Amino acid sequence: MALPLFKIIIGCTIILSDYVFSIGVLERSSNCPKPPEECPNVNITFHLYNRRIKNYNGYQLKENDTTTLQNAPFIKNKQVIVSSHGYTGHLHYAPNPELIDAYNRMPDPVNIIVINWGRLCPQPCYTQSARNVALVGNCSALFIEALLQHQTWFTLKDIHFIGFSLGAQVMSQISHKLTIGKPYWITALDPAWPLFDTMTTYAEERLDITDADFLDVYHTNAGYKGQLTSIGHVDFYANHALLQPGCGTNSSCNHVRAVYYYAESIYTKVGFYAYSCLSILTHLTGFCKPGPGDELVLLGAHVNHSTRGTYYFTTNDQYPFARGKVFDTQEEPIQAEHHMQSVEPVQPMQRPLPIDLRLSEIKASPKPSS
Ligand SMILES: *[C@@H]1O[C@H](CO)[C@@H](O)[C@H](O)[C@H]1NC(C)=O
Ligand SMILES: *[C@@H]1O[C@H](CO)[C@@H](O)[C@H](O)[C@H]1NC(C)=O
Ligand SMILES: *[C@@H]1O[C@H](CO)[C@@H](O)[C@H](O)[C@H]1NC(C)=O
Ligand SMILES: *[C@@H]1O[C@H](CO)[C@@H](O)[C@H](O)[C@H]1NC(C)=O
Ligand SMILES: *[C@@H]1O[C@H](CO)[C@@H](O)[C@H](O)[C@H]1NC(C)=O
Repeated sequence: MALPLFKIIIGCTIILSDYVFSIGVLERSSNCPKPPEECPNVNITFHLYNRRIKNYNGYQLKENDTTTLQNAPFIKNKQVIVSSHGYTGHLHYAPNPELIDAYNRMPDPVNIIVINWGRLCPQPCYTQSARNVALVGNCSALFIEALLQHQTWFTLKDIHFIGFSLGAQVMSQISHKLTIGKPYWITALDPAWPLFDTMTTYAEERLDITDADFLDVYHTNAGYKGQLTSIGHVDFYANHALLQPGCGTNSSCNHVRAVYYYAESIYTKVGFYAYSCLSILTHLTGFCKPGPGDELVLLGAHVNHSTRGTYYFTTNDQYPFARGKVFDTQEEPIQAEHHMQSVEPVQPMQRPLPIDLRLSEIKASPKPSS
């Protein structure tokens, strides 16, 4: 089940240096966006989505246009989520369409505010995109404080912040820049690692448990695009931590699986369950197995906020990913790669479903068990 540890360490070192080196070289020859350090910025926009809003681009909320903040078609007294994409993302990129689709399958409506900073994080500008995270955090914090002055039915502590990849680092920056308190709940979906490790540029800026009262972290490309070590109040590692079944060595596929698993956790009736283990080293060396009597915890959107520690879970190699409380041996990643060549990989929820279709599904789908 586990890959030999030395292979993983050598592999990680090679691919990480290759990744950082190649983006560094490309970036110097490109025209990367260096925005002025002031808010608002035309390239950082906020879009409200809920069941009442039929517009593909949502309802745009503008910090300097109070009418939009006052009259925004929120569904009041319902959950408010703030989400952010990462490097090379945009309004309609992971995790946004996946979260909107998944929450719309639930009986209870939610409000999702998407932070779109796509023009500040284009390929191949990873280094500059990482630098722009602080500005995005600052402008988002100022926006949230302005919004809360006009929508008084919810508070900062009611907001659930969800960030994918560099978007998870955006959530950390929002937390640093807020002057009215810190977030209660941040969910990090394979939070970005390059330049946000313990040694390089943004070590001090990295997302950690001081950023929220509850930080839950999901690792699917650990040690490459995503953080390797545990950084949250609770950390969940999927499958082989670095590699996911059905993805082979395609790091984009491994990375975005954090979003797919989380989105499915919102409505699945099967559930994703995890068992605890001392550390990632114990897991990767194959010493960590669920035993009889081990406590299994539910992960994802319905996670118990008292859960603490490091946990592991397995998934199916294609949608639906949830396996409930089953942990039998999965195929090795090398076979998974072979398998992927013969079978068209399933790409669930690439785009939000048309609203009408979503509404008919909501009526039909019963409450998920949690
Ligand atoms: C916004 O993005 C465009 C396109 O990348 C760029 O030309 C412009 O300078 C950016 N403006 C700001 C204020 O960031
Ligand atoms: C955040 O943006 C505001 C408004 O443009 C600016 O005054 C402030 O200096 C910025 N703060 C940081 C820490 O970047
Ligand atoms: C609001 O800010 C945007 C930049 O995000 C700017 O283009 C626009 O002119 C501003 N509007 C007002 C009314 O100040
Ligand atoms: C890698 O995975 C991504 C995301 O799933 C997919 O869009 C892309 O086509 C894959 N690349 C290859 C070479 O299979
Ligand atoms: C969460 O876990 C704690 C401690 O294990 C337990 O006391 C509590 O009842 C749980 N909460 C829910 C809502 O299940």
